[in-house]
Amino acid sequence: MADTLQLPVTSDREVLYTALLPQVAALLKDETDSVAAMANVAAALRQGLGFFWVGFYRVKGDELVLGPFQGDVACTRIGYGKGVCGAAWQRAEVLVVPDVDAFPGHIACSSLSRSEVVVPVVQQGRVVAVLDVDSIRLADFGPTDARYLAQVCALLPPL
Ligand code: SME
Repeated sequence: MADTLQLPVTSDREVLYTALLPQVAALLKDETDSVAAMANVAAALRQGLGFFWVGFYRVKGDELVLGPFQGDVACTRIGYGKGVCGAAWQRAEVLVVPDVDAFPGHIACSSLSRSEVVVPVVQQGRVVAVLDVDSIRLADFGPTDARYLAQVCALLPPL
């Protein structure tokens, strides 16, 4: 696997995800270390899609604990059901939040974040982590992001 991502020059997310997905699959192929895998996924998504913040929170006991990420420093621990990440964990479903200020209990790690998508990582029927992506633009995420980000999460080795 080359260490450079090959991406088309376009702002069309569908096109970018379609190009990126097999490259992420190649990056993760045969990788059994979950931290290495999550780190490269975060980097690939930020590099490939230009997101403001991309990272993982892992389920540890009754909290989510910050894992590999790309972007500004962030909150370290999030309680079950708290914020967008904790809610996605509790509900075990993808949450697309077009306006973070309108989401009750949103945790503002960065005042610049305006919209967010959180995808649970489900392994053996349990949420073991969440993938959190933040944007500085309102309503920056939709079904395309939810679909492809879930596919990316499905590529991760056992956490
Ligand atoms: N906004 C998230 C917290 C994590 S940061 O965005 C990186 C939330 O409400 O759960």
